[in-house]
Amino acid sequence: MKIKKEVRAGGKLYVAGEYSILTPGQTAIIQFIPIYMQAEIQPASTYRIQSDMFPFAVDLTPNTDYALIQETVHLMNAYLQSQGVAISPFDLRIGGKFEREGKKFGIGSSGSVVLLTLKAMAALYDFPLPADLLFRLACLVLIQRGDNGSMGDLACIAYEGLVSYRSFDRRALAEQLQDQDLDQVLALDWGYEIELLSPQLSYTFLVGWTQEPAISRDLINRVRSAIGPVFLKGTEQAVQDLLVAFQEADRDLAWSSIGRASDLLLSLNEVIYTKKLAQLKRAEEGLKVIAKSSGAGGGDCGIALAFEEAAAQEIVRRWREAGIDLLYSERMGEYDDQPKG
Ligand code: PMV
Ligand code: MG
Repeated sequence: MKIKKEVRAGGKLYVAGEYSILTPGQTAIIQFIPIYMQAEIQPASTYRIQSDMFPFAVDLTPNTDYALIQETVHLMNAYLQSQGVAISPFDLRIGGKFEREGKKFGIGSSGSVVLLTLKAMAALYDFPLPADLLFRLACLVLIQRGDNGSMGDLACIAYEGLVSYRSFDRRALAEQLQDQDLDQVLALDWGYEIELLSPQLSYTFLVGWTQEPAISRDLINRVRSAIGPVFLKGTEQAVQDLLVAFQEADRDLAWSSIGRASDLLLSLNEVIYTKKLAQLKRAEEGLKVIAKSSGAGGGDCGIALAFEEAAAQEIVRRWREAGIDLLYSERMGEYDDQPKG
């Protein structure tokens, strides 16, 4: 383990199932966003961690700014030791903030930085870390910190693809962590399900960035009490329908299911659809496009599925007029209105 290793971790955005996924057993569909953070790691005589988020480096002396990374290092060190790896200090440099001009994109930077740190340490020791183990270790870091999220971001970014994710009971797991060691907890059946999807449906996936930063943790705390059986049942049905639509290339079903998921978010709490996110959604009018808020809402990003090239261009133009930037786009399959072959 003499040489420098480089790893990267991407971002994510919810297609459907946000908020509902906070309830164990519910399902969400989450898209991987290939905008990356990078890490460089190499052996050193003492620990040195430097992220471009902060103008200073730290060792393992607790530091509020670096707490997330430091706690990840401690957990991974404990895990590696349990696997018989002789751990030693390293120099870790993290770069590639998910932001522009100091404004974050909201594509999952905190989850991504945990996964990035785990991957870097695994690379340092040439320790194989399959996606599922990566996901579990990252969940343990966040659960130990008292994170109130569903871990859907971790599922998507660990598996690096469009996924369907069924959530597990994080509170029950936190309790298991109290009286069982790491290996025992990792060996349990947590009850989640992660499946990589490859839709048969043709569309362009578009991401519109409102340039208004939102904090998921705070939004969850404000919205949570409104989540009830009607919202959960309706959202789960919309998500299951969207899965069928992807598989059977059913454009109308994709359209209606995303529309229903969006309406349910709209009625859940008014903080979700900000003025800009409402504009992002309204820009679909008259086009073969379905748009919605993504994730916690309150700012950050919205998404759209466009079923024609011209429609994709038009909604992007409307977004630009409303001060919404196209952050990312990806073509999935062929268009009906494109010549084939
Ligand atoms: O805004 P985001 O991308 O962090 O998504 C939050 C999604 C929620 O369901 C509201 C919370 C969660 O952790 O699942
Ligand atoms: Mg967000």
